[in-house]
Amino acid sequence: MKKNPIIIMAAMDVEADFLIEKLENMTCVDVEKYQFFEGTIENYPVVICRCYVGTINATIATYIAIQKYHPIAVISQGTAGAHGKNIHIGDLVIGQKCVNIVSAKTPRKKEGEGSNSLEWNLLKFISGQEDRLEYQLGNKHLIEFAKKVPYTDGKIHFGTLGSGDIWNQETDKILWLHQNYGTLCEDMESIAIYTVANRFKIPVLGIRVISNNEILGESYIRTTGLKSQEFCYQFILEILKDASA
Ligand code: 5AD
Repeated sequence: MKKNPIIIMAAMDVEADFLIEKLENMTCVDVEKYQFFEGTIENYPVVICRCYVGTINATIATYIAIQKYHPIAVISQGTAGAHGKNIHIGDLVIGQKCVNIVSAKTPRKKEGEGSNSLEWNLLKFISGQEDRLEYQLGNKHLIEFAKKVPYTDGKIHFGTLGSGDIWNQETDKILWLHQNYGTLCEDMESIAIYTVANRFKIPVLGIRVISNNEILGESYIRTTGLKSQEFCYQFILEILKDASA
């Protein structure tokens, strides 16, 4: 019987190239504008999905991937901006939780009273129910596998991923998100990937490498995407070790 694959989501080429190279017997299938690189690692099926940037792309691509492949796990992998003063370029963040950092309700203000995003409340809008803050959870078993993978290019932080279609460069806003919502980093795909996977009860986990820390003035380094892929490769081997045991 054909095994259900592990799906690795990657927004950009620099977040996908290494893993695509690692696939044995690779073929590429295009669905809409998304590419699904199908192959095997140690004889186990793995699909790398090039989903492009942002939550709308990630939502569509994750939905297609789940319907098409019925995966055993979906991984949100790639770069992210740090939300802490102790989190540096090259560090990894493993997403025990994920929160939407652009879904918010503002206080009422009259004309001329201006706007201050530090007064906003992050909320999930749910029809027919009172709006409330909601965290999407990463899968516990996948988190345990991630704990077993060695990493020498930086520290590994376990905690909350912030995510949404925004690139924050205001230090006060970044620290506000960190202090009020516990975010360790931000990216533009994880909230979509977590929400869709959890909706379909598919185990999900985010593995993000820090490519910039705007609060410390550590500017974006595009090529750090390689490091989350290298970690992800070892992480897949760790899952497979368990499956064959
Ligand atoms: N803020 C938002 N997204 C970021 N990314 C890397 N750093 C940041 C940041 N500071 C990722 C996003 C998106 C691409 C622009 O890079 O997930 O895919």
